[in-house]
Amino acid sequence: MAIYFPVAAVTTTAPPLVLPLAQPKRKGTLLVVDDEDGARQSLRVIFKDEYEILMAGDGVTAVELAQKHRIDVAVLDIRMTGMSGIEVLERLKFVNPSIEAVMMTAFETTDTMRQALRLRACDYINKPFDVSTMRAAVANAMHRRTLESEIHTNADKLQQLLDELQSQKIEEQMANTRGEIYASIIHDINGPLTVISGFIQLMNQRIGNATKLEVEDLEFIKDRLKTITRQVTNCIEISRRYLGFLRRQSEDAPRVGVNQLLKDLGHLVRVHPSLQSNQFTVHPLAQDISVSMNGTDVIQVLLNLTVNALQCTPQPHSVEIEGRALHQPLDLVAFKDGPQDRLLNVENFENGVPLLMVSVCDSGPGIPPEILPKIFQAYFSTKGAHQGTGLGLSIVQRLVKEARGALHVHTQVGQGTTFTLYLPAIPLVVA
Ligand SMILES: Nc1ncnc2c1ncn2[C@@H]1O[C@H](COP(=O)(O)OP(=O)(O)OP(=O)(O)O)[C@@H](O)[C@H]1O
Ligand SMILES: [Mg+2]
Repeated sequence: MAIYFPVAAVTTTAPPLVLPLAQPKRKGTLLVVDDEDGARQSLRVIFKDEYEILMAGDGVTAVELAQKHRIDVAVLDIRMTGMSGIEVLERLKFVNPSIEAVMMTAFETTDTMRQALRLRACDYINKPFDVSTMRAAVANAMHRRTLESEIHTNADKLQQLLDELQSQKIEEQMANTRGEIYASIIHDINGPLTVISGFIQLMNQRIGNATKLEVEDLEFIKDRLKTITRQVTNCIEISRRYLGFLRRQSEDAPRVGVNQLLKDLGHLVRVHPSLQSNQFTVHPLAQDISVSMNGTDVIQVLLNLTVNALQCTPQPHSVEIEGRALHQPLDLVAFKDGPQDRLLNVENFENGVPLLMVSVCDSGPGIPPEILPKIFQAYFSTKGAHQGTGLGLSIVQRLVKEARGALHVHTQVGQGTTFTLYLPAIPLVVA
């Protein structure tokens, strides 16, 4: 059966007809856009049992309908007064790019064909059409639409799965970091705790069996208690830092001069059990300077380096700390990694002026070339089981990176090792 629709003459512009058909949800929705009432009605008759039908007599109404309803396929007449079918198709695709379209016209030109194809029309039918061709075209478009929405659903599901995997990965990473943080707290608190326990032993020896305390005993205890209190505060600061609590507060804390930090470090090292009979000296800066890195972090970095230097051999040796302010940026080209040298954090280093330079130099055995590349790895230690955790230098590395500083190691087997810390500095503001 062939149905012929006159195309050229425009008759009426009928109001949109929405036919609410009580059908199951999965029924497709077909939008018929034609400015001829007869054509619209014919299409409605053909498809009313299969799809939900929306009808529009002009482009504006068609776009409005597309904004309000989920349209699967649109059958569009190309020749319409006002907005042409091609324009309507363009706007429909703008509202919902997944809408499939079947174009109808009596005047097929390659130009309109090309335009329709560019807008991804699914089919192109000549008027007058026969019912079976139209049915096949719409069924094909509906099929494409279903496939597309299935692909979308699958893509969504895949994305959901990827998101879940990603968040699982993040959780795993967080668990690892948490473990690392706890290990770091234990590592760094171990130093102050050793000092505290040593001092308590000393006090016990002094007042162990005494029934009465002499003035000197009291002075002795008061002095030790001061150090113990400092160490306890240190422990609290370390745990706070790692747990991220009060981070801001400590960053807002007034800047302390580097020489004060070196003095505190000296106090800590002088009561540290690793000092033994080693020679230990601290040379402060000729002119004091301040750094943006948190004071406890600076001490923590230098303490880790100094304790390593003290522990590098059981033979008596010397460890020397020297601070200096630099007023020229570092010539990074001059630093070359090799069997005796390593420079850390070149990529993030804030190489401005002034710079703080603090070196920790020992006359120990040096680091063999095959060991040097490994020393900053977490848990790497040559100290043997139960002696070292191998976390010290990885903590140092993390803190230096955070502060946008750099760390250079120069070592020579049989001669000793020098770790040099470079930190962005600021002139000291005297209150
Ligand atoms: N000054 C140094 N001289 C010689 N070797 C060093 C020196 N500093 C570090 N190392 C080497 O680097 C390794 C890793 O140091 P790191 O501070 O990370 O761990 P550790 O000192 O072994 O353990 P922990 O810090 O828990 O005591 C050391 O085991 C040692 O082999
Ligand atoms: Mg160490």
